[in-house]
Amino acid sequence: MLVTIPDVLTREEVTHIRRVLENTAWQDGRATAGDQVSSVKNNLQVPLDAPEAQDLGQIIMRALGRNPTFTTAALPLRVLPPMFNRYDVGMTFGAHVDNSIRALPNGQRLRTDVSSTLFLTPPEDYDGGELVVHDTYGTHKVKLPPGHMVVYPATSLHSVTPVTRGSRWSAVFWTQSMVKDTWRRHMLYDLDNAIMRTRTLLPDDDPAVNTLMAHYHNLLRHWSEM
Ligand code: NI
Repeated sequence: MLVTIPDVLTREEVTHIRRVLENTAWQDGRATAGDQVSSVKNNLQVPLDAPEAQDLGQIIMRALGRNPTFTTAALPLRVLPPMFNRYDVGMTFGAHVDNSIRALPNGQRLRTDVSSTLFLTPPEDYDGGELVVHDTYGTHKVKLPPGHMVVYPATSLHSVTPVTRGSRWSAVFWTQSMVKDTWRRHMLYDLDNAIMRTRTLLPDDDPAVNTLMAHYHNLLRHWSEM
């Protein structure tokens, strides 16, 4: 399940983040990759402990907190602070699966259930640089306007195609979900969307609405782990 979420960041937030990143020292992205991944990774990123990364990360975390689509699609338990990535001409990230376990800044470990890419560059400013996600239903190419985000299962093989013009900037981060099973998360997401649609057609005290809401919450209670 790929979920595209428009306008996660406001225009002002995108402008601010881009302005700060313009004045930031980028390092080789292999610094945070494991052995296998570093052989296919060729990009730049802001060091995780750079104050800029932490400040900008807070802006994104706040934006996620006010986004109901992210909440219902990812059912987040813990979110790893974002990493800021950059692909200049010739840079690429070959097919890989992200590490399953990562450490939070406080040392606590996080299981990566959901991957997110938040785009920060206007699509017309670069060629190539599509995020390609492979799942059981085929291959999906994603390139979104700045401030928009795609959320997909961290179990998916994915890649970034080579940039052939311009520079592609993004923030990526991982979420441990309360529901680790991708298919269960997908069903809850579909059910929640169907309930929201139903509530536009029927009054909230309609028995059908009540029953669907009860099923949603009882499934979430049954499947969630904290
Ligand atoms: Ni990845």
